[in-house]
Amino acid sequence: TAAALKDLFADDFRIGAAVNPCTIRTQEKLLAHHFNSITAENEMKFASVHPREDLYTFEEADQIADFARKHGMALRGHTLVWHNQTTDWLFRDRQGRPVSKAVLFERIRSHIQTVVGRYKDDIYAWDVVNEVIADEGEQLLRSSLWTDIAGDEFIAKAFEYAHESDPNALLFYNDYNESHPHKRDKIYTLVKSLLDRGVPIHGIGLQAHWNLYDPSLDDIRAAIEKYASLGLQLQLTELDMSVFRFDDKRADLTEPAPGMLERQAELYEAVFKLLKEYRDCIGSVTFWGAADDYTWLSDFPVQGRKNWPFLFDEGHRPKPAYYRVAALT
Ligand code: XIL
Repeated sequence: TAAALKDLFADDFRIGAAVNPCTIRTQEKLLAHHFNSITAENEMKFASVHPREDLYTFEEADQIADFARKHGMALRGHTLVWHNQTTDWLFRDRQGRPVSKAVLFERIRSHIQTVVGRYKDDIYAWDVVNEVIADEGEQLLRSSLWTDIAGDEFIAKAFEYAHESDPNALLFYNDYNESHPHKRDKIYTLVKSLLDRGVPIHGIGLQAHWNLYDPSLDDIRAAIEKYASLGLQLQLTELDMSVFRFDDKRADLTEPAPGMLERQAELYEAVFKLLKEYRDCIGSVTFWGAADDYTWLSDFPVQGRKNWPFLFDEGHRPKPAYYRVAALT
C-alpha cells in the first residue's frame, strides 16, 4: 500500500478530508490510512443541526464525531455563521417579518452555545464565520439576511459566542477565492479589523477550491504571505483541484482528457512544495473529499458533470498527483 500522507507530512501539517455519513463507510479504509483530520461536509451546518427553533438534530454530526474518535483523528467544525444552508426561521418571527438585531443575536448565541458546547471535547477548531466577503466591487461584505438585520456586528458577535462556548477552540474565518488579490485584500482588512478590536479569532481558512488554471502559484504565495503577516494560523480547509476552468460548462467528459491528470500532478506537486515552505504557519491541509468516487464538484457548477479533483482515483488508488506529492517528502 501507498505510504500514508499523514505520516509523510507529519512534520509539516495535518492532512484532512471532508466526510459525510456515506463516505465514512465507503472510504473508511482510505480515510483511516491517509488522513488524521476530518471535517463534516454538511452535517454540522445550521440547517442540518437546527432545522427549527425548538429542534436540534445531531444524529449525523454525532456519527462523524464518533468516526473521528474511533480513528484518533482531529475534528474541524464547519460552520456556524453562513448565508447558505441556514434555515430561514433564524431571521424571521412567527409572522414572517425580519427579527430585530437583538433577537438574531440571542438566537445565534444560543445556537453556538449548543453546538460548540456539544462538541467541546471533540472539535479543536471551528469555522465560525464563512464567506461573508463580497467577491466583486468595493463593498466589503456580501449582502445577506445577516447584514440586512445586523450590519457587520454579527461577525464579531459570532466569534465572541464561540469563544465563550469553548475557550480552547481555535476560531477561524473561512472563505473561497481567498488567493485572488482583490478578495485577499478584503479578507485581510476584515480579519485585521477584528484583531484590532480584540475579537477572539485565531486563524484564517483558505478554502482552496482551485482548478488547473486558477489561481496562479504566485497569487497563492502572496495570499499566504499576507494572511500570515497577521500572525494567525492558516489552514487550507476545502482543497480540491478541479480539472475544469470555472467558466467551462462542458458536460460531456466521462473520463479525464489526455494530459489533465499529468497537469494536475504537476500542480499538486508545486502547491505542496509551496505549502511546506510555510509549514510554520499552516496547521492543516484539508481536502474537500478524499477520492474521485465522490466530490461535490460532480454537481457544482455543472449538475451531473464528473470531476477528478483529488490525489486518489475512483477505486481509491493513488493518482499521478499522489506520487508527485509523496516524492516531495
Ligand atoms: C458544499 C458541500 O460539499 C455540498 O455537498 C453542499 O451541497 C453545498 O456545500 N464552501 C463551503 C462548503 O464552505 O460548506 C461547501 O460545501 C462548498 C463551498
